[in-house]
Amino acid sequence: MYPFAFNIKDYHPKVGRIHLPPPIHLAFVTGGFIICNFVPRLYDFHDSAIPAPYFHSNIDSDEVLYYVEGDFMSRKGIREGSFTLHPGGLPHGPQPGRTEDSVGAKETNEWAVMIDTYAPLAPTTNVKDTIDKDYAQSWLE
Ligand SMILES: [Fe+2]
Repeated sequence: MYPFAFNIKDYHPKVGRIHLPPPIHLAFVTGGFIICNFVPRLYDFHDSAIPAPYFHSNIDSDEVLYYVEGDFMSRKGIREGSFTLHPGGLPHGPQPGRTEDSVGAKETNEWAVMIDTYAPLAPTTNVKDTIDKDYAQSWLE
């Protein structure tokens, strides 16, 4: 319950030889959700590393990503200020071509915040009015 602010630009990322799963970017844990920061960082440095994240489903949480600024390696059609919502259980990962594009990349310049909630989210009227109804189709070429 203690109120405080933490500037994402003060967050120091961790990197590894191979891809580290998102919880390595964990900044806060609460009783209802977690917050992870994705900040500029060197990519995985093994010779055969694939920097793009793997496909996954969040079994126990809904996942909201807020794209703050920079280049978002795993996404097409995302710009600063975008939000994405991946409901629990929905498989998601890099969009077509992004995994291949990531091979050999040395660093990312992304700033993004991820919130994983332990309970399902209910979209507000504003979300219903502004959501990109074609987002789920963005994995199709
Ligand atoms: Fe995810």
